[in-house]
Amino acid sequence: MTRPLTDNMEIFAGLIVLIACCCSLLISNGNEIGGCSQTNNFFQYTNYRTSYHFQPSRNWINDPNGPMYYKGFYHLFYQYNPLGAVFGDIMIWGHSASYDLINWFHLNHALCPSEPYDINSCWSGSTTILPGSKPFILYTGIDANGRQVQNLAMPKNLSDPLLKEWVKFSGNPVMTPPNGVKKDDFRDPTTAWQGSDGEWRVIVGSRSNNQGIAILYRSKDFMHWTKFQNPLYSSERTGMWECPDFYPVSINGTKGVDTSVLNPSVKHVMKASFNSHDYYMLGTYNPQMEKFFPLTDFEGTSSDLRYDYGKFYASKTFFDNVKNRRILWGWVNESDSRQDDIEKGWSGVQSIPRQIWLDINGKQLLQWPVEEIETLRGKQASIDDKKLESGSVFEVSGITASQVDVEVVFELPELEEADEFINPGLVDPQLLCNDKNALIPSRLGPFGLLALATEELTEQTAIFFQIFRGHNRFVVLMCSDQSRSSLRKDVDKTTYGAFVDIDPRQEKISLRSLIDHSMIESFGGGGRTCITSRVYPQLATDKAARLYVFNNGTLGVVISSLNAWSINEARIGEEESFKV
Ligand SMILES: *[C@@H]1O[C@H](CO)[C@@H](O)[C@H](O)[C@H]1NC(C)=O
Ligand SMILES: *[C@@H]1O[C@H](CO)[C@@H](O)[C@H](O)[C@H]1NC(C)=O
Ligand SMILES: *[C@@H]1O[C@H](CO)[C@@H](O)[C@H](O)[C@H]1NC(C)=O
Ligand SMILES: *[C@@H]1O[C@H](CO)[C@@H](O)[C@H](O)[C@H]1NC(C)=O
Repeated sequence: MTRPLTDNMEIFAGLIVLIACCCSLLISNGNEIGGCSQTNNFFQYTNYRTSYHFQPSRNWINDPNGPMYYKGFYHLFYQYNPLGAVFGDIMIWGHSASYDLINWFHLNHALCPSEPYDINSCWSGSTTILPGSKPFILYTGIDANGRQVQNLAMPKNLSDPLLKEWVKFSGNPVMTPPNGVKKDDFRDPTTAWQGSDGEWRVIVGSRSNNQGIAILYRSKDFMHWTKFQNPLYSSERTGMWECPDFYPVSINGTKGVDTSVLNPSVKHVMKASFNSHDYYMLGTYNPQMEKFFPLTDFEGTSSDLRYDYGKFYASKTFFDNVKNRRILWGWVNESDSRQDDIEKGWSGVQSIPRQIWLDINGKQLLQWPVEEIETLRGKQASIDDKKLESGSVFEVSGITASQVDVEVVFELPELEEADEFINPGLVDPQLLCNDKNALIPSRLGPFGLLALATEELTEQTAIFFQIFRGHNRFVVLMCSDQSRSSLRKDVDKTTYGAFVDIDPRQEKISLRSLIDHSMIESFGGGGRTCITSRVYPQLATDKAARLYVFNNGTLGVVISSLNAWSINEARIGEEESFKV
């Protein structure tokens, strides 16, 4: 849960609650009070709405909450402000369901402020499915005193696969800020896991001064929770940990494992959200000591591992036991202004759900869009074995470039001729990408895609690689350059960048991008490095948008293969539209 900008709860918040707390009055996202501004500049902004990424019909969303699979449906809950397109003083849990993770229908809100322990908001949390297929929500309530406390909720009717109604536990709150923890530094409980002793464990994000903390709680019955003496982990240099996530990954393959699995064939992932980014560590969980031992602690430098090197925050995973995979959801923020959001009437998108697993080398996680996205593929364009000379720009035609899934694989016949990487110590790849010099041609790169471009290239978002010869290995830099993404001046055009841990002598360099009007989600090196960006072209919208492959390096590269598919609109709407 992202903290609101101010801590002072509005005097009138209580009044708003009276309206907002009654979930049943706020039918579903489409029909609420408050929504505002369908009129102002609406037409101008419709181009920016995504066509296959999850969004409610209007208003502000942020963190994904409690994703899970239950009796035939995937469920996604999310932080939602029913009263407007900005972060709200009163936040609730929106709720949508899906057969396939791609097409969604909106349901009644799952959790709204109603009790002293959550009267000022229902903030982020997770679901845990207890034995006997019983899902429980653990969430953060902002109580009547502005304290962050943890609460439980259960489905009213376990036979309803849509879990439309949730009942709050009469014993709430089940956790209150412990001694030494500030009342507003205690939030975002994870999915719980069960030890071999049968007890449940869960962590809650916190801080002590600048130290980020994962406070551990244990319970025999899931209702009465006791704080363990030591945190599961704490990290010196991070500040407040938001939305922690803690789960096992198989050391051997792409299959996911359930959150309670602990055996020699898994490693553990500890993720925390801070500094507007989602960082993770790989390591080992020792249940006797109740401690997580990472391979390396967060350093506070660009060498810390991140899920995504662009816009991607407050993410959460869940284990999908239907397809034995772990799936990651993340909140993708806007890059335009608060005023723009109010005018367009919405803010925030969810990433495409991504399968996530441990690289066979054990050093990092890999991510890939769930296979279900391929059901939306339409018209295809393909290119094979095409040489891209220095300075060339080549259009990928025959597809809808504003709504496309493209994967290109590059071959580097002159790899050994790459420039030397001048690296006096630690280098921040984002700075390398940001540096204007990075656009000055090197021998190998920049080469890659120009997305959401105009025909004259006056607008373009370049997602590209540059390859250097380092000390006994090659260095692969991946950048997403938003500096020319829009003629508009009032949007954040920060350039993002990261290294891709890949040996180009062993493997070709691949790039997959999911382009969706104002969203570009890119997966480099088969999902080793992900960069998501938000762009707001003024001209390169809808039919005017183009897609190109380019090479600005002085050496040629070869498109070994390129496949691009127009992506059909996903059905994301009210429940009625799904009935046949
Ligand atoms: C519970 O849900 C099932 C399936 O939707 C439904 O048939 C049943 O009537 C519900 N029970 C109650 C008490 O609402
Ligand atoms: C990994 O998987 C392969 C193939 O399934 C198997 O042969 C090997 O024993 C597994 N290794 C471990 C450590 O589980
Ligand atoms: C979301 O975007 C706004 C506008 O670009 C920015 O001010 C804010 O810091 C962002 N928040 C996060 C968590 O990325
Ligand atoms: C490629 O080079 C041309 C000519 O110098 C330049 O105009 C263009 O901006 C470059 N493209 C990228 C993506 O750097």
